Amino acid sequence: MTAEKMEQGPGPASNREEYPGLGNVVVVIPTYNEAENIRLIVTRLRRAVPEVEVLVADDGSPDGTGEIVDEMAAADPRVHVLHRTSKEGLGAAYLAGFAWAAEHGADVMVEMDADGSHDPDELPRLLNALRDADVVIGSRKVPGGKIVNWPMSRVMISHVGNLYTRLALSIPVKDSTAGFRAYRAEVIAPENLAGVASQGYCFQIDMVYRAWRAGYRVVEVPVTFAERERGHSKMSSDIVREALWRVGLWGVQARVDAAKKVIDKLR
Ligand code: GDD
Ligand code: MN
Repeated sequence: MTAEKMEQGPGPASNREEYPGLGNVVVVIPTYNEAENIRLIVTRLRRAVPEVEVLVADDGSPDGTGEIVDEMAAADPRVHVLHRTSKEGLGAAYLAGFAWAAEHGADVMVEMDADGSHDPDELPRLLNALRDADVVIGSRKVPGGKIVNWPMSRVMISHVGNLYTRLALSIPVKDSTAGFRAYRAEVIAPENLAGVASQGYCFQIDMVYRAWRAGYRVVEVPVTFAERERGHSKMSSDIVREALWRVGLWGVQARVDAAKKVIDKLR
């Protein structure tokens, strides 16, 4: 992992406010070139759910995103930034963010994009649902969930990607690529994440697949995902290719494991 410099940690535990019934919540926001968005999203999030701590995991954005968060952190003890040295993908940024949150005593970790696609006002609904679940996905694909302003091409990729995932992995989740979620800390404890290699958006599938296989309760809550208005998506053909081959491989592995079990029983 890249060398990271940590700014101030959260205030003393006694100063922390807990989210009712859930404890200490850390929202991890990965960023790469989100200077036009980061100030607004952190401000909106702090206003919508004042109890949460915010950790921005920035991959050394050349546009100065990290420095903007440094300024915000200096003025607000609940805002933190992890300065990573190079762009290593969404997966690596989240892993580093989760590890930081675990070290700082988080009971719940939240994933959220920086570009406004995920509405902080919807976070309380996700958190409230976590009281009876281990993972809550802000889902665009359950009744009441929506995608606003995505080009048809992106809607199709998401649709086909989720269908492929369900077929390959037999997982009963409708939106396994969604990036707005809440986890109980134990689900993504560092020891449960050893060997995670997913770099791009297939990290999202990786996390929910691991949680579901481990027997954790995964719940989908409808959200509205609105396409960003400023800055650029980091979606690329590499990200799609990585998801295709990794999910395909996991599917083959699951079938081989199932066949082995049957053979063992017959012996
Ligand atoms: N640190 C870091 N490093 N952050 C990254 C990187 C990276 O390499 N790549 C993307 N991000 C950050 C972005 O700055 C943003 O805050 C968030 O991750 C999501 O990236 P976008 O580029 O805005 O993603 P999207 O809108 O195309 O895709 C959304 O939908 C996908 C499909 O459902 C996201 O919600 C994805 O997480 C989701 O899988
Ligand atoms: Mn986006």
